[in-house]
Amino acid sequence: MAWTGETAVSRRLVLGATAAAGAVALGGVAACDDDPPKPTERGGVPPLDPQDWDGVRAHFALDPAVAHFDAFVFASPPAAVRAAIENHRTQLDRDPLTYLHANEVARDAQITQEAARYLGGSGELYLTDSTTMGLGLLYGGLVLRPGDEVLTTEHDFYSTHESLRLRALRDGVKVRRVRLYQDPAAAGIDEIVAALVAGVTPKTRIVAVTWVHSSTGVRLPIREIATALAGLNRDRAPQDRALLCVDGVHGFGAVDAGPAELGCDFLVSGCHKWLFGPRGTGMVWGSEAAWQRFQPVIPPFDNASIGAWLGFGPGPAGRVPPSPGGYHAFEHRWALREAFAFHNALGRDRVAARTAQLAAALKAGLAELPGVRLITPRSPRVSAGLVCCELAGTTPEAAVRALRTSGIAASATPYNPSYLRLGTSIVNSPAEVDRAVAAVRALS
Ligand SMILES: Cc1ncc(COP(=O)(O)O)c(C=O)c1O
Repeated sequence: MAWTGETAVSRRLVLGATAAAGAVALGGVAACDDDPPKPTERGGVPPLDPQDWDGVRAHFALDPAVAHFDAFVFASPPAAVRAAIENHRTQLDRDPLTYLHANEVARDAQITQEAARYLGGSGELYLTDSTTMGLGLLYGGLVLRPGDEVLTTEHDFYSTHESLRLRALRDGVKVRRVRLYQDPAAAGIDEIVAALVAGVTPKTRIVAVTWVHSSTGVRLPIREIATALAGLNRDRAPQDRALLCVDGVHGFGAVDAGPAELGCDFLVSGCHKWLFGPRGTGMVWGSEAAWQRFQPVIPPFDNASIGAWLGFGPGPAGRVPPSPGGYHAFEHRWALREAFAFHNALGRDRVAARTAQLAAALKAGLAELPGVRLITPRSPRVSAGLVCCELAGTTPEAAVRALRTSGIAASATPYNPSYLRLGTSIVNSPAEVDRAVAAVRALS
């Protein structure tokens, strides 16, 4: 018997009422009791005019004395997101359980609706707290059999490498790494695709890559990789296909592409970087077919799962797994809707164009400076908003400290070798790019 809604047992009975937070299907969103929090007018935030980038910047509460080229690392959300968080928090603080019961189903549906508009296409969302949580749950939960292999690269972040290492420790799967390019500044699409494909063996079941490398700023040609893998998968049984899993965090909110354009099986991202969403939010998007290869590690709090636990139904076997259960920081999670709505209002294409335009100007300025070596490619086809460079005679950490004294916030890449890294995003202006170039000139 299919377990439906509250008909057989009330979740309120079960857990004092908690989440319906399922994997959220994109499209086909249930109607919900819409009570959107109003964007605050406090602090003189003007109405959002997507054509006016200075006006857009005014929606952020970032310290105006500093040019924030590190804003993507950990988001400072725009006014509408801050207002939503504040509104939900106030109501949760007044009467937590009542507000939770009144909102949990509707708010997830609202998030789904805005996320679907942003991502495009179809598929299922799995809500998490961060990219790292998504990667850990995904690589911990994909079904692998003895002898199966995972292919990843030398360029991925700690979160991918460690999730895979921990998986291998548990059940002995073999994880192999390939190098995709020798010189990041000269990285090319054909070179990258060929190097990755050469690493795929008949035993490869997961290909774990990162869309935009936070080590170098190189953007991988995910579409071309997906096309090459589709060729290799053509004659494989569904359970033997190599799934393309992407840590998308530095492309998500910065590049004009969603799962449909990328062609990947899973896209994992935090929403608290380039999307400028609430801190502590993230997602895993997966195609319906790909989710069939996943077994959750954290129990979901949906009706079917809890009902099955109570002996009322068959449980969620065979369907897309609902998001991890447990009570969450719902004031942050529910404000994800406003984060997606903000980007939808600005336009995914316009945000990407602005990000790329500022990055191009920054790279052009840095390339002129003696003593500066650009690490990130100049070509927008293989880069996004991250710009990495090396300064002769200065460590990245020392450069970050010195730039900060000039009002430029940058970061040092957490890799070996480490580089100076600036991210151009919608919170920056062309004048700030000029200031950043001038400040680096003073160091070089
Ligand atoms: C490529 C990449 N993936 C994941 C992360 C971690 O993201 P989160 O804070 O969302 O876990 C980072 C850096 O913070 C990163 O550079």
